Amino acid sequence: MNTHPMVKAQGVHKSFGAAHILKGIDLEVAPREVFCLIGPSGSGKSTFLRCINHLEQINAGRLYVDGELVGYRQKGDKLYELKAGEVALKRRDIGMVFQRFNLFPHMTAIENVMEAPVQVKGEAKAVARARAERLLDRVGLAGKAKNYPSQLSGGQQQRVAIARALAMEPKLMLFDEPTSALDPELVGDVLDVMRGLAEDGMTMIVVTHEMGFAREVGDALVFMDDGVVVESGHPRDVLTNPQHDRTKSFLSKVL
Ligand SMILES: Nc1ncnc2c1ncn2[C@@H]1O[C@H](COP(=O)(O)OP(=O)(O)OP(=O)(O)O)[C@@H](O)[C@H]1O
Ligand SMILES: [Mg+2]
Repeated sequence: MNTHPMVKAQGVHKSFGAAHILKGIDLEVAPREVFCLIGPSGSGKSTFLRCINHLEQINAGRLYVDGELVGYRQKGDKLYELKAGEVALKRRDIGMVFQRFNLFPHMTAIENVMEAPVQVKGEAKAVARARAERLLDRVGLAGKAKNYPSQLSGGQQQRVAIARALAMEPKLMLFDEPTSALDPELVGDVLDVMRGLAEDGMTMIVVTHEMGFAREVGDALVFMDDGVVVESGHPRDVLTNPQHDRTKSFLSKVL
């Protein structure tokens, strides 16, 4: 049986020039787990997510997704960087949803969802369309398939973005503050979609300020500050009984 973690970080370091951003991240995300990541602005949350799908290279340590090194192949003690095509192939397995929805503005909702399977996987349009219809239905937007992004609310656009990521049938979904650009009344629908995904067993890493979501849906919670994991555990424990002063101070500002 396949028992390795979906994501495993061992001593991950990342610098931008002289700025040391990630200072040795160790963590494991189990398959089907909803793994929440919180921390102050600038602590390195987005950078860490970007390392997971190799949008950023790491400077030291090891990062594995589904048992395979991200961006590298190991032979003996040596690492060989994968070619761009090989990286792209692996990135297909990882869906990413950002704070800003980044839909293609000249395409309808359903065209946005069909685009990657058709263009990247060479899938037949009819197959991609059938899946896109199912996915739009799943995110509660069956009636909006022909709307352009400009004709959708922010929350609806974000749900299309989630459907678009799911269209590649990823084994891991990364969410980077998916609701923080939304008006408060639109947040709930997006969180409901994410809750549904969690119930269906999707492995998810969620950077969020929604502590209610983390408490109710999260299986694990990590508090990051200044490029290190300060504290981790079950969300209920970390949120109600934080052990470190930095965690306490952060939570007192956001709860
Ligand atoms: N491409 C880059 N070049 C240089 N510095 C960068 C780059 N990307 C991020 N940084 C720096 O790395 C640090 C961590 O940024 P990151 O975006 O990971 O923080 P964050 O925890 O996601 O913050 P926020 O909550 O505001 O989104 C910041 O100081 C940022 O300025
Ligand atoms: Mg960020």
